[in-house]
Amino acid sequence: VRHNQTKTKFGNLSDEDRIFTNLYGRHDWRLKGALARGDWYKTKEMVLKGPDWILNEVKSSGLRGRGGAGFPSGLKWSFMNKPDDGRPKYLVVNADEGEPGTCKDREIMRHDPHKLVEGCLIAGRSMGARAAYIYIRGEFYNEASNMQVAINEAYKAGLIGKNACGSGYDFDVFMHRGAGAYICGEETALIESLEGKQGKPRLKPPFPADVGVFGCPTTVANVETVAVAPTICRRGGSWFVSFGRTRNSGTKLFNISGHVNNPCTVEEEMSIPLKELIERHAGGVTGGWDNLLGVIPGGSSTPIIPKNVCAEAIMDFDGLVAVQTSLGTAALIVMNQQTDVIKAIARLMEFYKHESCGQCTPCREGVSWMYKILTRFVSGDAQPEEIDALWEVSKQVEGHSICALGDGAAWPAQGLIRHFRPVIEQRMADYAARKASASATVV
Ligand code: NAI
Ligand code: SF4
Repeated sequence: VRHNQTKTKFGNLSDEDRIFTNLYGRHDWRLKGALARGDWYKTKEMVLKGPDWILNEVKSSGLRGRGGAGFPSGLKWSFMNKPDDGRPKYLVVNADEGEPGTCKDREIMRHDPHKLVEGCLIAGRSMGARAAYIYIRGEFYNEASNMQVAINEAYKAGLIGKNACGSGYDFDVFMHRGAGAYICGEETALIESLEGKQGKPRLKPPFPADVGVFGCPTTVANVETVAVAPTICRRGGSWFVSFGRTRNSGTKLFNISGHVNNPCTVEEEMSIPLKELIERHAGGVTGGWDNLLGVIPGGSSTPIIPKNVCAEAIMDFDGLVAVQTSLGTAALIVMNQQTDVIKAIARLMEFYKHESCGQCTPCREGVSWMYKILTRFVSGDAQPEEIDALWEVSKQVEGHSICALGDGAAWPAQGLIRHFRPVIEQRMADYAARKASASATVV
């Protein structure tokens, strides 16, 4: 295994090291195009090599879950490797991509669906699963349609189904469309929804690997995580681990949106500096780097960091934790100096308030409360001590709820206070001054 202990510069991935070469729709997304790009190449051999071989490659690649949590994939998939107790095992692909700012899985399913179908077979084989369910968000109509076409093509070509790829292994892939609830992206809510119930998260443990869909051992994994598995196995875990820093390896899809000249989805090397990522691929910040206010680096749940922190930030798990935020879904939301940052965070809080399933009190009441306070911060009609009150409420929500939605709502509020307290205070001072001057005029 080749680690990058000595490498100091990361980024500038070459095309030949990109996995998702078809991302921008430049090529045929159907089976013919996929075969030409090397998908489904030697898949039979990989299936025949068996679970231990696949798990070893994935473990040695250092792949960590691409859905936001970053849990080591090889370890997670190996939790399914238990003695047969008669229950079938399932792979469930989380394609319910709903994190604001995030649209990387959408691009895969739209432009490279065969990578995901082949990934289901390889990941499923590593777990001893005989079926995969792809749970896709309802709004992704065209992507669900492309996925279904790719699945049908794979069945017709004998790549999946009975005797998949001629390997003797039977493997089915089913699509399931969600109905537009953000919370169904949480793995246990997703399982409930797949079973036909309301999408409300379950308490963990038991983890899905013990009790998942229909009470059976299940692994829920993100689209990108599953879709990179065949390439990792073909090129070797040692190839994947040669990108990025130790514990942060691989290539990664980044979404860059907001105030940049060229919003885009791009595959880059992990550990690329944030500034370089924006300047190289998104044409820089509108109005130039000096006009940057801050960046939400990993989808709406990750705390915003201001310009001076952005200048030093490294786009990987450890690099972003070091600056009190996280990689999350690797979806950067760039805000320039013309942004009302309080309003932006208040709007995100409104989203979490709306999407909370309501079954635990700290999330149901706390998120609503945070939204109300933030709304008053937007106008400035609030007292300075309420900033500490907001912080306190966010700490009461964080870590005190069943699922990560509560944390995801608390962290943006904390990021705002950590870095933009003077902006909030100034807004209140301006409001108070306006009010005083208005009453003076009346007198
Ligand atoms: P988590 O850290 O609780 O779990 C990660 C994975 O590891 C899960 O699949 C879990 O079942 C498994 N796992 C952890 N410990 C285990 C154990 N002891 N035994 C067996 N399995 C174990 O995080 P979670 O709740 O899955 O994800 C939260 C993240 O999702 C957030 O960081 C957020 O950024 C992201 N997110 C992504 C969205 C998207 O659209 N992609 C939407 C919303 C949130
Ligand atoms: Fe529901 Fe929020 Fe509790 Fe998650 S944290 S289970 S969304 S109430």
